[in-house]
Amino acid sequence: MEQIVKAANQLNKGFLVAFPTETVYGLGADATNENAVLRIFEVKNRPSNHPLIVHIGSINELENWTKDVPEYAYALARKYWPGPMTLILIRSKNIKDFVTGGQDTVGIRIPNNETALLLLKEFKKIGSGAIAAPSANKFGKVSPTSYQHVVNELSNDLGENDMILDGGNSEIGLESTIIDCTTEFPRILRPGAISEKQINEIIQLDLNNKETEMRFSGSFKSHYAPNAKVLLDEIPKPGDGLIALNDFVTPNDVIRIGAPENIEEFARNLYSDLRKADELNLKRVIVIQPQGDELAVAIRDRLKKASH
Ligand code: TXA
Ligand code: MG
Repeated sequence: MEQIVKAANQLNKGFLVAFPTETVYGLGADATNENAVLRIFEVKNRPSNHPLIVHIGSINELENWTKDVPEYAYALARKYWPGPMTLILIRSKNIKDFVTGGQDTVGIRIPNNETALLLLKEFKKIGSGAIAAPSANKFGKVSPTSYQHVVNELSNDLGENDMILDGGNSEIGLESTIIDCTTEFPRILRPGAISEKQINEIIQLDLNNKETEMRFSGSFKSHYAPNAKVLLDEIPKPGDGLIALNDFVTPNDVIRIGAPENIEEFARNLYSDLRKADELNLKRVIVIQPQGDELAVAIRDRLKKASH
């Protein structure tokens, strides 16, 4: 708790705090502090027109940062927040261009992680309570799902007043579902643990306009990528790494780096498995994609980008 209070103070002073969420670790800054937010882009090597997600601690704070929120977005928020879901909404005047890359919309999420929620609460007591945070990895690389991943990836770029909070392993392991809520019917921009089916239980998705390319992220073809070449659904050769569900038999001389027992475990371990391929200096890693709906859709989306 002491660390969390300190982290809230550091955010308020304009420093960066990497923190755990249930999806992946984020690299956070006070969403109202331009210099702090600009440092996120520097540390990540991220293009500055690439918008950030703003994390808040309670639905009551939504109207501070957004306007013209459709009723269905409130319904989604009430049902799935805190949780792995980001809503794209019209921004209020309190959200500046340096967060949205100049867009009139902003992505908002309440994460479902104890450390993250305590941090947001403490930060709300003393400051804006809004934390702009992308995943805490270098641009285009694999998202971190543990404290150690963030330390390995960013500690050289962070200063002594920045902090990395330890919250164990991210439970879900894949980034949030992003839903565009700026039109009459919502559209999924990035699949995640909140599935199409779960959204349809609340509001019918825009069927003509499903899974539209994301304005920024989707347009970068390679993303979520380790140094090893990721190949999908191929027969692994000797010396290759292999990630596949447990029941897939490892061929001779292939290095088994992941054997999850189910789809949830596949998602949870995918990024650390991809990092393992790099630690082992593998040239190639073969991933046998899981079939099915829901979380498997999100896994295949990330693998498609990782393999580009
Ligand atoms: O689970 C997550 O969403 C994690 C954790 C830390 O919350 N965050 C995350 O952030 O994945 P990031 O920046 O790595 O990916 C967010 C994506 C970006 O690709 C960005 O293009 C998209 O969200 N995004 C953010 N604001 C947007 C907006 N206003 N319109 C369209 N896309 C937006
Ligand atoms: Mg990211």
